[in-house]
Amino acid sequence: MNSKFLALISAVFLLGNQGYSQKNDSFNIKKQLDYCADQASKTLKVIPNDGTSPRTVLNGSNEWKFVNYKDWTSGFWPGELWYLYEATKDKKWEKEADKFTRFLTPLSVSKAADHDLGFQVFNSFGNGYRLTKNKEYKEIILKTADTLATLFNPKVGTIQSWPHNKMGGHNTIIDNMMNLELLFWASKNGGSKNLYDIAVRHAETTMNNHFRPDYTSYHVLIYDFETGKKIKGRTAQGYSDDSMWARGQAWAIYGFTMVYRETKDPKFLDFAHKLARVYLDKLTTEDLVPYWDFNAPDIPNAPRDASAAAIVSSALLELSSYTKDKTLKNEYLTKSKKMIVSLSDNYQSRDVNSAFLLHATGHKPAGSEIDCSINYADYYYLEALLRLQKLK
Ligand code: GLY
Repeated sequence: MNSKFLALISAVFLLGNQGYSQKNDSFNIKKQLDYCADQASKTLKVIPNDGTSPRTVLNGSNEWKFVNYKDWTSGFWPGELWYLYEATKDKKWEKEADKFTRFLTPLSVSKAADHDLGFQVFNSFGNGYRLTKNKEYKEIILKTADTLATLFNPKVGTIQSWPHNKMGGHNTIIDNMMNLELLFWASKNGGSKNLYDIAVRHAETTMNNHFRPDYTSYHVLIYDFETGKKIKGRTAQGYSDDSMWARGQAWAIYGFTMVYRETKDPKFLDFAHKLARVYLDKLTTEDLVPYWDFNAPDIPNAPRDASAAAIVSSALLELSSYTKDKTLKNEYLTKSKKMIVSLSDNYQSRDVNSAFLLHATGHKPAGSEIDCSINYADYYYLEALLRLQKLK
């Protein structure tokens, strides 16, 4: 999380939205943060001491499934622990965060398996460095950024997401936008300037190819390896090639908002607003937690995806700070707040398991992690609570 945007957001918020904060102060953020800390304390007691971390509690179970550092979600649990340290200043969380973060060290010296290195290393070591300035963490982040950059194909202009699964060309998934933050950070903190250029080129290529005319995102884009030409847009985790997979659109909104923060190029800001607009306009659920895919055929009985709501709520808080349009700013803040309150009031898992949230959906077409608790839903929920707290 970037401190400059938080300062800006706070100033704008205080000047323009005093009524908003007064009307909504019945929502107790501290109570939700305490809840997260209590749940995480329970989780710590059941994690095996074998280098793994918690990923999922499946629907119908109350037991965590644990994963090792290679899993794409391995950075979220240490990231949650860093956020709890930030929220509480309690050294207990720093100690645990450091322990689980260090499990991911091998990623910085291994060949890149896929694009997820940003999710893994920036949420763990990145948050750790932001809060502690530990030089060992910085070295690992810088090395990992160079590793991620090896997946960049200059003929296409993007990082390849899944080298192990070619899908008929050079594939890039929309989720990959999130991993650019690692490259931006490295380029500004002692790494090569080339990392910045790669991140910008990836964002531009994605902006130009990865979206339908109505600004809904494909999940996967396939490009020709040699010519760089777009072959087709398709899905892997969404309902169909032409549907709007909720978490994909969420990654896009968050990703382009972050790219604007890092570049200050207005074309990325304009694009982030368009992506948010289509998401909010198509969102039909009263509680603002989306179905797992906006075009799922069994709506209103389709599973929800609390992770998408958590990601979007956090992204909208940041995006709201970049607009001078008071009506739009107020819409983003009001809707983001409503998402966070919905998740807090009706999606918490206190009586079921020790995650923070229920009702996230991982990979519906594969029949896996449907309507369950997942660490990335928890991570972005906690991030959104912290962002909201800083606004007040
Ligand atoms: N990045 C994988 C997912 O969102 O499920």
